[in-house]
Amino acid sequence: MCGITGYIGGNKTTEVLIDGLKRLEYRGYDSCGIAAVDSKNSLYLKRVSGRVDALEKLVREEPVKGSHVGVGHTRWATHGAPSEDNAHPHTDCTMQVVVVHNGIIENYLDLKDKLLAAGHKFKSETDTEVIAHIIEEKLKSLHVQEKAMRADMLEPVFFEAFRRAVADLRGSFALSAVWAKCPGMILAARLHSPLVVGLGKGENFIASDVSAFLKHTKRVVFLNDGELAAVRKDGIDFYTFQGKKLAKEPVTIQWDSTMAEKGGYKHFMLKEIHEQAGAVENTLRGRLLPLGGDALKAELGFTAEAMRGFSLVQFIACGTAYHACLVGRGLFENFGMNAYADFASEFTDRAKLLAGGALVVAVSQSGETADTLFAVSEARAAGAKVLAITNTVGSTLTREADYVLYTHCGPEIGVASTKAFLGQLAAIYLLAGHFAAARGHLDKTDARRYAEELLKIPRLIEETLEKEAEIAAIARGFSSSEHFLFISRHINFPIALEGALKIKEISYVHAEGYAAGEMKHGPIAIIYKGMPLLAVAPSSRVLALVAGNVEEAKARGADVVAIVDEASQKVVKASRYIVLPRTDELFTPLLSVIPLQLFAYYIALAKNCDIDKPRNLAKSVTVR
Ligand code: F6R
Repeated sequence: MCGITGYIGGNKTTEVLIDGLKRLEYRGYDSCGIAAVDSKNSLYLKRVSGRVDALEKLVREEPVKGSHVGVGHTRWATHGAPSEDNAHPHTDCTMQVVVVHNGIIENYLDLKDKLLAAGHKFKSETDTEVIAHIIEEKLKSLHVQEKAMRADMLEPVFFEAFRRAVADLRGSFALSAVWAKCPGMILAARLHSPLVVGLGKGENFIASDVSAFLKHTKRVVFLNDGELAAVRKDGIDFYTFQGKKLAKEPVTIQWDSTMAEKGGYKHFMLKEIHEQAGAVENTLRGRLLPLGGDALKAELGFTAEAMRGFSLVQFIACGTAYHACLVGRGLFENFGMNAYADFASEFTDRAKLLAGGALVVAVSQSGETADTLFAVSEARAAGAKVLAITNTVGSTLTREADYVLYTHCGPEIGVASTKAFLGQLAAIYLLAGHFAAARGHLDKTDARRYAEELLKIPRLIEETLEKEAEIAAIARGFSSSEHFLFISRHINFPIALEGALKIKEISYVHAEGYAAGEMKHGPIAIIYKGMPLLAVAPSSRVLALVAGNVEEAKARGADVVAIVDEASQKVVKASRYIVLPRTDELFTPLLSVIPLQLFAYYIALAKNCDIDKPRNLAKSVTVR
């Protein structure tokens, strides 16, 4: 899982590549590099073990002379440790062919054995390097008199060598290659890893994600699986892996590159926490009233009859998105509808058991999570219909799904997901409301009340965010704690899981989320005097039970912070409170997660952690 950039056109190659890599660092950041072809058609290659800032410094110290074409890469290691040798771009033996790659080449060991037997010398432990050597082999096999040919005459040869090389690869890849002898063209290919081409004026771009080049162009073409692109400065041709030419229309991206910048906040994560009211508002806009009406149905392609026809709803996702799914399961069950939620990575066999008429709801911010995509393909193979809930237009998930419901959160850059989670919840509340209305679980009056309550949430999120200073102070008091417990019940149990996940990923401390009722069945044994325990306890039908579980934990020494509203504060006995505005029990997850996000943020800040790019993580997990 890595980020790719490519540029061809003017004389700003290294700036465009490096700026793009900075925007793609969320995809991986353990090493990075760029390659460009200079004015004498020699290869310029710079790589570092570490972040793009270090690469930028190196490139400034030793700039390339007169380059119009190049590729770049930021890496999240899969094969081979994070090191300069394993950093991309990778080259062939002649140092003329250069490749960047995101994904995994499953048959690379077989390929490498053959290449070694043919005399190739390898410089890295990566699977990617085989691709550069295969292209070299294919170029040789085409028997071209390179010296006798002009660079542009070599383009069909390079294309054919690349196409044949791609045909030898198994696994998943977004890849891009440059041949120094033929610097008028970059080639790109995609199979199960995202790749998008940006169309400029006299210049064109390649990237794993549009944010890499949005400040240069918003006109883009998304590659589909099995497609190749030949990118020149004044035009792009698309082909199938078999070499058949394709006609592909560009689309215009609505995001603005400044939307992806920090806007005065210290971290993207904090900015994104503060954008959550907007994320919910944008996701709900125009889709809610009247529930059971036509707005959302027209968008999804669902009729009320189809909604009545599904026998069950099966949610699948990973990480934070999975926690949104658990809330979704609770909501659907609340309305008396059969619903299940599973980790996408644990879904494989269960997919085969899906009853006919199942609707699989796959939730993914990026729409590129490999586990989720694989689970979707299994579900489809089993005959289920798939609805994608995603934030990313044109992502692979949107192309794999039968129906798509976009969250409209804008780009999420912080690796720890916050506003995308709120957007996912909003989309799931929409869906549940529409299903419940269509299936007669909500009558007209209740449907209106549900919609009205949901429409109040953005304002209540803003009110909740006003507690930031209080939450920060509480968090600072716990900044040296090494263990945290989060408990809740029913529809807020997933929020306890999410609170623990947020602390783990950005502060690197141990945290567990538990169903409050489960504590007494074992986990209560780990409580020691002063252990921080955050109890999510808004007013609800399970409040008395949560309050009892808090008492049990306190009796064993836990130092309890309770997330309450004014009414539930009177019932739960804690040493500190974070008081939320009141909403109907069903909607409380949309508010109760916010103090936990802020709590995690301020713990990580006190610990001086790299909040937007936590160690060992990447924003988009495109390997299984
Ligand atoms: C946690 C986090 C991850 C993602 C997970 C799924 O803060 O961001 O757990 O939620 O990797 O990613 P998407 O939603 O892109 O499928």
